[in-house]
Amino acid sequence: MDLIETLNAIVGAQHVLTSGDLSAYEQDWRKRWHGKALAVVRPATTQQVAEVVKACAAAKVSIVPQGGNTGMVVGSVPDASGQQVVLSLQRMNAVRQIDAGNMTVTVEAGCILQNLQDAAEKAGFLFPLSLAAEGSCTIGGNLGTNAGGTQVLRYGNARDLCLGLEVVNAQGDIWSGLSGLRKDNTGYDLRNLMIGSEGTLGIITAATMKLYPLPVASLTAWASLPSLAHAVQLLGLAQKHLASGLTGFEVMGQFALSLVAKHFPQQRVPLWDSAPFCVVLENSDFESEAHARERFDHLMEQALDAGVITDAVVAENLTQAKALWHIRECIPLAQAEEGLNIKHDISIPVSRIPEFVETTDALLKRAIPGVRLVNFGHLGDGNLHYNVQCPAGADGKAFLQAQEPGVNKLVFDSVLAHGGSISAEHGIGSLKRDELPHYKSAVALDMMRAVKSALDPLGILNPGRVL
Ligand code: FAD
Ligand code: MLT
Ligand code: ZN
Repeated sequence: MDLIETLNAIVGAQHVLTSGDLSAYEQDWRKRWHGKALAVVRPATTQQVAEVVKACAAAKVSIVPQGGNTGMVVGSVPDASGQQVVLSLQRMNAVRQIDAGNMTVTVEAGCILQNLQDAAEKAGFLFPLSLAAEGSCTIGGNLGTNAGGTQVLRYGNARDLCLGLEVVNAQGDIWSGLSGLRKDNTGYDLRNLMIGSEGTLGIITAATMKLYPLPVASLTAWASLPSLAHAVQLLGLAQKHLASGLTGFEVMGQFALSLVAKHFPQQRVPLWDSAPFCVVLENSDFESEAHARERFDHLMEQALDAGVITDAVVAENLTQAKALWHIRECIPLAQAEEGLNIKHDISIPVSRIPEFVETTDALLKRAIPGVRLVNFGHLGDGNLHYNVQCPAGADGKAFLQAQEPGVNKLVFDSVLAHGGSISAEHGIGSLKRDELPHYKSAVALDMMRAVKSALDPLGILNPGRVL
């Protein structure tokens, strides 16, 4: 039997796609790459995933695990060979169990993040992972990339929320590690090895994730600031006044917000045209709405009096709060509307971010007159999306072809000089693979290669990604 016939026998011919329009599986979200798959396989159970991997390993055909295909670094789509199998986890989307006493949820890898958030809330809990792609990204993809998002400041990355995993390894064996344990020191931490490995070490089929109490009240404010240094000051003030109540702190540059105003005119973007930066911040309170408002108002008054912020809007109700967050979440969409761009998802110690932006902006503007810089991101985590858009009127594709390597070198060298990392939350994929050797030590890379070849000696899991 040839591979396609074997796959048909395992998952049913209707779930092995080999013809028609497969662009939803073959093209990445940013439209940076359109590959060609041998087939798209959509298993329904962990056992089927294991059999698919065994069949592909026997045929020496490589596998690209895929969730919602919202990744930013071209890690979830096939190469151009027409010889890779895309393994879509989308049909494995059940919430298997909520253990209220243990405050955990066990969920299949293909479950859409928003559906998991909703299921948790229905059971009276918060599942805090939150990002603009939550309507289509999956928990398997979130763990595969160790996703961050807007609540990391208080609750951590996907890794910090995960207690256990079920994984199909490169040999097609199932590792059942769905522990709900908060402590377990029994040898090497396989869970943490799999998280953030971008589908190169194993296929996550299910996960046990932490749940949290729902806050009694959540308040959102939007403030304008004279500079990024003031945003860092506001972060310090907010951490002092709100302590663990500070659950979100996002910064947005003026040009980033102008793109939202331009491409989504129905959104009313506050204060964007009066200041170089705005911040959206969230205070979650476990006492009462009145307590939350008193603390939040006090913080904003202090920040205004000290000249840290120039103006502010505090949402009166949940609808207004959601509208403010929606504006922030529209930035990547508005940027995509504006055209192809060079994304940098970087991590820098918070205290050094203003200096990094000032020096790197100056270098880029000198190198490329008219270049437009789209700055926004998770300032509370020291994670900036420092993106580079072509000069107004220029062709985005031509700009990328001519400038991307030089721009990356300039930005990443500056990141290194400021003690940072070239990938904070999006991962490496294939887009940043060739950059990694320049910014990671040879010893670290050797150890990573040793892990890869020990766990996947045939190199069939997402080859060409990360390493
Ligand atoms: P995919 O894109 O399908 O896959 C991503 C990687 O994980 C690939 O390498 C893939 O092979 C691997 N993978 C997928 N499923 C599995 C599995 N079951 N087992 C093993 N490996 C697997 N990221 C952030 O961190 N923070 C943000 O704030 C954020 N915001 C975003 C906003 C928008 C509008 C978009 C489009 C993306 C955003 N992202 C963000 C990027 C993206 O990483 C996340 O959307 C998400 O984590 C990817 O999940 P996915 O299911 O779409 O994974
Ligand atoms: C975000 O924070 O909105 C994302 O990481 C997406 C992006 O960087 O464009
Ligand atoms: Zn982000």
